[in-house]
Amino acid sequence: MTFLVQHFSDATELHELRRRILRHNDPAISVHDPRDVEEAAIHLAIVRDEHVVVCGSLYPSTSPLDESVDSYQLRYMAADDSVRGSGGGRALLERAGDIVLSRGVEHLWANARDTALGFYLATGWTAVPGSEHLSKETQLPHTVVVKSLRSH
Ligand SMILES: CC(C)(COP(=O)(O)OP(=O)(O)OC[C@H]1O[C@@H](n2cnc3c(N)ncnc32)[C@H](O)[C@@H]1OP(=O)(O)O)[C@@H](O)C(=O)NCCC(=O)NCCS
Repeated sequence: MTFLVQHFSDATELHELRRRILRHNDPAISVHDPRDVEEAAIHLAIVRDEHVVVCGSLYPSTSPLDESVDSYQLRYMAADDSVRGSGGGRALLERAGDIVLSRGVEHLWANARDTALGFYLATGWTAVPGSEHLSKETQLPHTVVVKSLRSH
């Protein structure tokens, strides 16, 4: 399947998929991130039949591995059931890597849900030993993952 990854300036376009996939579609939970409106934030999505089916956002953020390294944090990575497992997530991460590299940044990090850890490992990320934790927002088990874009 071929995917066109689009760069959105307005994160609200991604909120429906964020809420549905990552927050049990609970209308009472806010999926607005205060950092969404920052100029340096990057919001990426794949659209099918006028609906966002894959999304992810990135924000400049100190790497948990090395404070001296410029880094972006990936958040709100989600794929709709209708396209899951067909390469959309990978395509979005590749576009994210290209954009971040074009800004002179070579490191990405994320708090990966343990249920999605295989996705990150399959796309070239590395789990940080000892970083396992429960998310304050969702109470789900997470592990910090990092990716160097040097060989991207
Ligand atoms: C995680 C998620 C975004 C991946 O998106 P996707 O479009 O399905 O991923 P892709 O099809 O691009 O998969 C890329 C690779 O990762 C693997 N993969 C994807 N999801 C996986 C998972 N949950 N566990 C293990 N491996 C996974 C695929 O098999 C594929 O491997 P391959 O290329 O060796 O065949 C999607 O499964 C999802 O929305 N999950 C629920 C929400 C979630 O957990 N988001 C992450 C929060 S940190």
